[in-house]
Amino acid sequence: MKSAIALGIALLFLGPALAQTEKEQSGGAAKKESSYAELAQTPEKARNRKNPLEGDAEAPAAGKKLFERHCAECHGEDAAGSPKAPSLRAAAVQKAAPGALFWVLSNGVVRRGMPVWSKLPEAQRWQLVRYVQSLGAAANADPTSPPR
Ligand code: HEC
Repeated sequence: MKSAIALGIALLFLGPALAQTEKEQSGGAAKKESSYAELAQTPEKARNRKNPLEGDAEAPAAGKKLFERHCAECHGEDAAGSPKAPSLRAAAVQKAAPGALFWVLSNGVVRRGMPVWSKLPEAQRWQLVRYVQSLGAAANADPTSPPR
């Protein structure tokens, strides 16, 4: 009986201590960051870079092909997200500066599962930026103002 009480007391102290270490191991502070935190942290110089393909009418279509090949497996065919990765139709992505998207593609968010895409030529990264941001234009179109 005495040993049962001792065990109970031991568990009383050990329980919370064990729970604590588990929390720390599963990422702690990093978990609290938003999925799109990296975009907001883009250095100003990178963010201000203009997309050299801004006026290229073919860039979004080329970007779509690249997206299907490289990105869809995590972000979903329509970029709306999957259990592996967040939606790229979110305002945080659609309203981001093209330079910020380019920077995230070039550097990845490796510790959180987003690969580095610097192996793709710069032009392809800019095409991807054009494609991703072309989605928002459609998704965010104001349904209350149909064309007259
Ligand atoms: C292996 C899975 C995977 C692939 C492939 C992938 N991503 Fe991601 N991506 C992620 C994850 C996970 C995140 C969330 C990272 C985070 O929490 O910050 C992310 C985040 C992003 C973000 C938001 C940036 C941010 O602040 O987190 C953008 C933009 C993005 N991805 C674009 C792309 C594009 C474009 C491609 C294709 C070239 C691509 N991703 C391929 C997993 C992937």
